[in-house]
Amino acid sequence: VEVSLHHMCAILQNLEQVFIRAVNQAYPQISNPPSVQIQLSKMADYQCNVAMALAKILKENPRIVAQKVLEAVGKSPVIGSLELSGPGFINITLSQSFIREQVTRLITEGVTPPPVEPITVAVDFSSPNIAKEMHVGHLRSTIIGESICRLLEFVGHKVLRINHLGDWGTQFGMLIAHLKDRYPDYLLSPPPIADLQGFYKESKKRFDDDEEFKKRAYAAVVQLQAHEPDHVQAWKLICDISKAEFDKVYARLEVRTEACGESFYQSRMEELVKDLDSRGLLSLEDGRKVMYAENCTVPLTVVKSDGGFTYDTSDMACIKYRIHELGAQWLVYVTDAGQQQHFKSFLACAQRAGIYDPSAVRVDHVTFGVVLGEDRKKFKTRSGDTVRLVELLEEGLSRAEAVLREKGRHEVLTPHEFEKAKTAVAYGCIKYADLCHDRTRDYIFSFDRMLDFKGNTAAYLLYALTRICSIARTAGVSQEALLKAARTAPLELAHEKEWKLARALLRLPDIILRLATDLYLHPLCEYLYELSSVFSEFYDNCYCVEKDESGTVLQVHTSRLLLCEATATVFKHSFALLGINTLDKM
Ligand code: ARG
Repeated sequence: VEVSLHHMCAILQNLEQVFIRAVNQAYPQISNPPSVQIQLSKMADYQCNVAMALAKILKENPRIVAQKVLEAVGKSPVIGSLELSGPGFINITLSQSFIREQVTRLITEGVTPPPVEPITVAVDFSSPNIAKEMHVGHLRSTIIGESICRLLEFVGHKVLRINHLGDWGTQFGMLIAHLKDRYPDYLLSPPPIADLQGFYKESKKRFDDDEEFKKRAYAAVVQLQAHEPDHVQAWKLICDISKAEFDKVYARLEVRTEACGESFYQSRMEELVKDLDSRGLLSLEDGRKVMYAENCTVPLTVVKSDGGFTYDTSDMACIKYRIHELGAQWLVYVTDAGQQQHFKSFLACAQRAGIYDPSAVRVDHVTFGVVLGEDRKKFKTRSGDTVRLVELLEEGLSRAEAVLREKGRHEVLTPHEFEKAKTAVAYGCIKYADLCHDRTRDYIFSFDRMLDFKGNTAAYLLYALTRICSIARTAGVSQEALLKAARTAPLELAHEKEWKLARALLRLPDIILRLATDLYLHPLCEYLYELSSVFSEFYDNCYCVEKDESGTVLQVHTSRLLLCEATATVFKHSFALLGINTLDKM
């Protein structure tokens, strides 16, 4: 397998292919060879354990098998040397010229995506519900979803960013009925509703307390679903107010989504239900039309007893649309883990209905845990309300400002730089705190913790990056001069810590590849934190710039500055994938 000229090499992927070929060559008689897995190793750079599994099949001594595989590897530009070790491991040391060449490429070309087969991926994320406030669960979906989109786009997939807004539920009946009472002129002039959540609460209270109102609310839903123009206009008004609020959050967080809510599927739901019904896939239960499938314990409610559709119906119509109209080959849904049952059920039913074939379309339900407060209880305001996202982001800004002031940054930075730093730190910390944990676990939302300048936080890493960026700057070496140096002379690596840093830098493509396959983002954060400490080791041991007591530059080590440059490139690129803005100064 040749190292592609256009891509940075994903080393694990490359070595895996090299060893698969070697196994086939050494043991052509084995029709079903064990899968080759390459791991990082403390003894060398990487290790391959395939001989152990092979030896079991062959009933041979694993050391002999390993030796035979090793000999079959042949020449590879990536590999410097191979060595048999222990009971039958193969230790792999990278070639030095390969490392030099790859680090240089990192500087001159930036991080280039590892090769993958591009497909169309529909990523369903954020997806808040109209009129109800967007809550921290939606914040998680927004942050994780945005990062997944960036990652999949980077590796070359065609990504459809879909915001599956909850804009078609029964809540609209009471909202419309309440709107008509409170603002009888709503058709003439848009009602001045600033606080939609308050409006929602008012109408909910009336709905619960007042039988007559409740009846009108139900009637309003029927009218809406029958497309009665005044009701449609009322619905649209409410949606627009709500969406404008959501957009404020998206703008602050620099998140891009295309709204395609549940309402979009109304006509498709009607058709779908007809189709399922005519094929005898629905059964009647207490006046509802439900659908069962194998392994689906809770049936889908496809039509309610009043004839209305549900969340289940919209997801059935929606998966059909995404696969058969949009041509998506991979569907990703980002929601809290509480919805697992819903997803299992409608996927099973979609399969039974012939809408979805798991061998042709990949589906991932990307779940995440609950956001907890510092008291380890569900994240709420002091008064027990759900936390408004806009307020949370505001608090993030003022907390970030306080921390930066405490560090005296307002005295060093211009007002403009300070503003930029404040925003990047605030939103960066909120995003990073979410992304750096295994997403399936609950996590504790704590401004104090995320704004800590120690440990695996965005505050620390963003600061570390500004320090790295300033090394060449303070030595008076320009970006252009560095690029020119990288292009003209081979990178000199000598010190053990220089090699260690170079090797760490080259791990990024494999990590990106893995993330883009399993959709867990925290390994990238762990890598960044590790890289920051490998960099510190390097920086503490290797002078990049030597100065005399007066601060006059005596000597500049260009290759070391280039390593700083490559490190900055890896950090910036990784942060961009996480949706986090970086800073030159902070
Ligand atoms: N609106 C839903 C909620 O707030 C999330 C929708 C997720 N997407 C989907 N296709 N079901 O819980």
